[in-house]
Amino acid sequence: MTSARGRSRRDFLRTALGLGAAAFAPVGGSAFAAPRVLRAHAAQRAIVGAAYPSTDVWSYDGSIPGPVLRYRQGERLRVEFENALPDPTTVHFHGIRLPNAMDGVPQLTQPPIERGARFVYEFDLPDAGTYWYHPHLGSPEQVGRGLSGALIVDEADPPRVDRDRVWVLSDWRLDREARIVANFGNFMDASHAGRIGNTVTVNGEVRETFDVVPGERLRLRLVNASNARIYALDFRGHAPMVIAYDGHPVEPHRPEGDRVVLGPAMRADLILDMTGEPGKRYPVVDDFYARMAYRLLDLRYADAPRRGRAGEALPKLAPNPLADPVLADAERHQIVFGGGMMGRMPRFASARGVAWTVNGEPITAHDAEPILEIGRGRSVVLELVNDTLWPHPIHLHGHVFRVLSRDGKATRHREWRDTVLLAPRERAEIAFVADNPGGWMFHCHVLEHQATGMMAVIRVA
Ligand code: C2O
Ligand code: CU
Repeated sequence: MTSARGRSRRDFLRTALGLGAAAFAPVGGSAFAAPRVLRAHAAQRAIVGAAYPSTDVWSYDGSIPGPVLRYRQGERLRVEFENALPDPTTVHFHGIRLPNAMDGVPQLTQPPIERGARFVYEFDLPDAGTYWYHPHLGSPEQVGRGLSGALIVDEADPPRVDRDRVWVLSDWRLDREARIVANFGNFMDASHAGRIGNTVTVNGEVRETFDVVPGERLRLRLVNASNARIYALDFRGHAPMVIAYDGHPVEPHRPEGDRVVLGPAMRADLILDMTGEPGKRYPVVDDFYARMAYRLLDLRYADAPRRGRAGEALPKLAPNPLADPVLADAERHQIVFGGGMMGRMPRFASARGVAWTVNGEPITAHDAEPILEIGRGRSVVLELVNDTLWPHPIHLHGHVFRVLSRDGKATRHREWRDTVLLAPRERAEIAFVADNPGGWMFHCHVLEHQATGMMAVIRVA
């Protein structure tokens, strides 16, 4: 009886999930299907709640965050993008391995999409997982005004869970009338931690609660879409298991200190079993910044437990088709990230609007001379040196790399990532196969750092 009920509920959930996915996804991967239209435009959203005026934002399709773009692994994404913003823009699909011409980097891979213009993004999706999309032009302002959305690629055989949900974490710098403070690109932010906001939203709203059912198993996809804020989420009273980083499966494990740390642009997929007591609330606390801990929201339990999948064996995701770097004949390079306040700032930095350097040079142009040229197919080990007193989430386009070591110590999971968070003064070794031809951005994803020198191009030819 119970198990039959359990099954039919799960079937219902699966169907509901399927419908949700169908509503978001274009008509499959058929080459004949019309592309999905995605329009960026100004809008107003009540992000702080009804007690405050709504906020003027920039949005995809009028929603904050943008619509969830959802596909199946192996399908083809086709998005006809229309720019109805006051400024030129591009769309970058973060973390997805795609052809260079579809990477959405102005000057480097495509001309800016002018106001009123369209651009069709079209590429295959080789990897399953949790990804996201955002502008790559004027990004401190454009992302800071609200332009970001999740891109989900479902596995051929997704793990069985009771619910699959996305939390897009964003932070905003708002005044008392809930208006965006438009001091984008100021040197103070740029030369320190970046634009850290004063209001954190989950899926576009400040939230008190997230409703859960005792006994259910949740797959929670976390996306950090913030300009600069780093999160360390502590699910009080719960033991989340990480099953993927930046979209790619990892051996399921409890995160260090039971806190899920996400630098800007990073993602984590969690299995979260709702083992709390019916009718109770459990806070999810973000305590990354010392003395600035706050409650993100409460998990609010329904009164009646149901038979769910909590406590079942942990799912193992099938690996994505990534080429493993051959370390024995990899070429090795060192890349040093420098600058910032309290460090060695480049001379006359603030006058030139630069604050950060890559290998000693502040680079601010997307189409700068490459700092590295790598033969196609080569295995590469990069030693990343954070020679500053600030953390930096370093992102490589077009590829996914393994994190081999931190400060000379082998990592436990050799996890695949597209963005690695370097702590102040930390060194990390990453390795990948340079199998995707073109010029690829390699930059800090604190958007204010990127814009003031901490970016570079790596060319694969
Ligand atoms: Cu999220 Cu250069 O990108
Ligand atoms: Cu940085």
